Amino acid sequence: MNKMKPLIVANWKCNPTSLRKAKELFEQVVEGVKKEKNVQVVICPPFIYIPTFKQVAGKAVKIGCQDCHWEYHGAFTGEISASMAKDAGCEYIIIGHSERRRYFGETDDVVNKKLKAALEAGILPIFCIGETNEERRAGKTEAVLEGEINGGLEGINADDFSKITIAYEPIWAISDGDPYATKEMPTPENIKKAEVLIKDLVAENYGKKIVGAKIIYGGSVNAANSKSYLKEAGMSGLLVGGASLKAEEFVKIVKNV
Ligand code: 13P
Repeated sequence: MNKMKPLIVANWKCNPTSLRKAKELFEQVVEGVKKEKNVQVVICPPFIYIPTFKQVAGKAVKIGCQDCHWEYHGAFTGEISASMAKDAGCEYIIIGHSERRRYFGETDDVVNKKLKAALEAGILPIFCIGETNEERRAGKTEAVLEGEINGGLEGINADDFSKITIAYEPIWAISDGDPYATKEMPTPENIKKAEVLIKDLVAENYGKKIVGAKIIYGGSVNAANSKSYLKEAGMSGLLVGGASLKAEEFVKIVKNV
């Protein structure tokens, strides 16, 4: 059986503020990781930078986007469809990020429609789930993850599920852009526990053969802690926010794999 390469995904969110800065960062990352053969690096910039990056991406780095609309096309002012993202060069797409759920009101139903649209367009979805601090403190983590998994994956068959990577991002561990800000962080044991839970929930939907589900971790990942989430917690990869905006730091995370 082919062992999957760890997936290291950069979620740039709404950064950086100009094409010049974005291109500089992108090129520095490509240069820094181009010899790394045992890892798959994906950069998800704001939509507007994607066409420029497609020309300089090369094999070392794949391009993803951070969202899409669920419809193929039509009168949806301001939206971009999954097929447009695919046409622009995206191979991956982040769906259901907690910031989309929180600031843009995305429900599990919306996330489900977007996952289906991405699969239909032939883009590999990175499906985000995770609990808030209040939910965690109220002992609701399991119920929240169950709701997000069941709602998000509704009607998606096992074959399509095999194309999805689940990103577990406990919302309480996500930084405001500074991965070294003092934040409560989950331990590798916490993450391992969540991973087992997610695999059980997925198995309830797809049966036991899905034990190989790809689950990556996100939340204040930096070069100092990345290894522990991969090696100790055994995650299939990482979804990196703030630290992916610093080329040197992000390249270190990739090399740490
Ligand atoms: P940080 O790495 O900045 O905590 O962001 C995590 C995240 O939300 C990635 O999608």
